[in-house]
Amino acid sequence: MRIAVCGSIATDHLMTYQGRFADSLVPDQLAKISVSFLVDDLQLRRGGIGANISFGMARLGHRPVLVGAVGEDFAAYRSWLERHGVNCEHILVSEVRHTARFVCTTDEDMAQIASFYAGAMSEARNLELGPIVTAVGGVDLVMISPDDPEAMLRHSAECRTRGIPFAADPSQQLAFMDGASIRTLVDGATYLFTNEYEAAMTEQKTGWSAEEILDRVGTRIITRGRDGATILRRGEDPVHVPIAAAVKRVDPTGVGDAFRAGFLAGLAWELSPERCGQLGSTLASYVLETVGTQEYTFDAPGFLDRFSEAYGAQAGAEVAAHLA
Ligand SMILES: Nc1ncnc2c1ncn2[C@@H]1O[C@H](COP(=O)(O)OP(=O)(O)OP(=O)(O)O)[C@@H](O)[C@H]1O
Ligand SMILES: [Mg+2]
Repeated sequence: MRIAVCGSIATDHLMTYQGRFADSLVPDQLAKISVSFLVDDLQLRRGGIGANISFGMARLGHRPVLVGAVGEDFAAYRSWLERHGVNCEHILVSEVRHTARFVCTTDEDMAQIASFYAGAMSEARNLELGPIVTAVGGVDLVMISPDDPEAMLRHSAECRTRGIPFAADPSQQLAFMDGASIRTLVDGATYLFTNEYEAAMTEQKTGWSAEEILDRVGTRIITRGRDGATILRRGEDPVHVPIAAAVKRVDPTGVGDAFRAGFLAGLAWELSPERCGQLGSTLASYVLETVGTQEYTFDAPGFLDRFSEAYGAQAGAEVAAHLA
């Protein structure tokens, strides 16, 4: 089963300031604000949801097709992803804009001043799935993750027209999309991924009840942080997937992406939804215990051990048959 992952590709520039922003702000002069903070640490991290999910799937031995838009500055990041097994051949390279970038400075109180530059990401709306699907010899599932909102709607429309099954993963874009757009994105999806909060927001903004959503999507997956995940299918009992391991919570950024990567890997191996959720939870624990979203060290035997420890030998054997 071949999976294409559409979504953002970005880098994060994270700085820390050993002081308090509040000490340098003059409240009655804010209209003329001009401040500069001398920071002593800069971390560059590879990120973007499409890239994180593709990276995770590739770690598990798949070769997902990453679909998104970047700038000319993407070369080093591209070779990193390719080295780890992600197909980057169909990424659109903008001629005028830089790759999306998140720049954030955190002070000693954890207060943050951040900017997000969407840049080339806005050109993802120019991507047409048809030629990509043909070039790679067919795609069985298209994952539609946070990206340029117009691109997300275009991809879902194209999947419907071409009859390609798709998974809707609106995540943080839910906050910026109106009810009509969310309905368009979700309706007819084979899989719908959200966390618990986003699940409620989906219901609120679409005006659809949980029941109605289940009538419109094949399978609904709701992640609940340390409470694991729930997999819902119409007419079936909900499946609860507990977390894989009580790991040290070092940096939660990207856990949701890793969960999705593991889940999709399981789908590509044609495992049951429960196994897919367990794979997602196990990969998520790797990301949770490392700083950054693509920095975890992965080896198949270690992964299998953690997986079998959490979900049993039988489940482990099913996964072992696929994991190289
Ligand atoms: N404290 C934890 N310990 C172990 N596993 C966890 C923990 N928190 C989350 N996970 C795993 O990660 C999955 C996704 O977590 P969560 O529901 O927090 O995603 P999210 O809210 O989308 O996160 P984000 O958007 O920050 O990536 C959970 O279903 C679970 O398997
Ligand atoms: Mg999330």
